[in-house]
Amino acid sequence: MNKTAKNHVLELVEMGRVICIASGKGGVGKTFLTGNVGIALAQHGFSVCLVDADIAMANLSLLLGMQSSPITLHDVLLGEATIQDAIYEGPKGVKFIPSGLSLENYRRVDSERLESVINSIANQFDFVLLDIPAGIEKNVLSAIAASDEVLLIATPDPPSIADVLKTKIVAQRLNRKTIGIVLNLVRGEKGEISDTDVMKMLELPVYGIIPYDPEVRKTFLHEKGGPLMVRTPDSPAALAVQKTASKIAGIEISIASPKSKNPIMQFFNKLFSIFKKKPKASKD
Ligand SMILES: Nc1ncnc2c1ncn2[C@@H]1O[C@H](COP(=O)(O)OP(=O)(O)OP(=O)(O)O)[C@@H](O)[C@H]1O
Ligand SMILES: [Mg+2]
Repeated sequence: MNKTAKNHVLELVEMGRVICIASGKGGVGKTFLTGNVGIALAQHGFSVCLVDADIAMANLSLLLGMQSSPITLHDVLLGEATIQDAIYEGPKGVKFIPSGLSLENYRRVDSERLESVINSIANQFDFVLLDIPAGIEKNVLSAIAASDEVLLIATPDPPSIADVLKTKIVAQRLNRKTIGIVLNLVRGEKGEISDTDVMKMLELPVYGIIPYDPEVRKTFLHEKGGPLMVRTPDSPAALAVQKTASKIAGIEISIASPKSKNPIMQFFNKLFSIFKKKPKASKD
């Protein structure tokens, strides 16, 4: 996007947006999406800060090739460093706050402080993107609470979609806005749930359909590795990430949505109506 487009969007976005990338299941591409969408936004001229808020299993630094960043979010959460000291320069001008790898420090960290730490930098950037753990445990809740918006990601299969619905409900209970869902590792195979059906099930717009792309795995090659957006910006997954970045930034891109009548829709509608039921008030 050119600067004029950026200015237009920024008129709409008065202050920095803090967005976490969340999923029910692990290994669906949160870290991949956070890193690459952040780089794409930076390439569009936005100021972006990526935060590795997966404080137990940090690996955003690996994706960015920034493993040797000495001051980390752990130090900040422990009150042993300031957040400004933990901000590093990443690829293509993104800023990056790493998480520590020490298990000892992890045990001492209190993730509840994350909200105030993130609040303190939100207005320095157009976008602060948080890479968070999977599931709905305490560290996830703290990271969602530290965000203004939640972008969901899942693979297009029933267990992944069922679990991401729980994440959506948790975000709702924390009064955080879920903006959309990204489908990743899409292979176009039989048995996958279509984006149209996902949209209906989750009642959310689809922010991206990212194909399985063997180029992604080359990120971690010792030589010739590096984030997809930097290495092969024309690969199918990188182009899809690009669309997601545009959608996040507020430029509508119509994503082709092949119509399908998924035979398991009925099953899911039933399952989701159970999930969505509010818990009954306890009698005691
Ligand atoms: N579109 C894709 N095509 C091919 N491989 C992918 C794609 N997206 C992600 N991967 C690979 O899948 C693996 C899991 O991705 P990633 O680490 O981003 O998932 P995650 O949701 O962050 O996992 P965790 O829940 O453990 O934090 C990585 O090896 C990544 O390179
Ligand atoms: Mg991850």
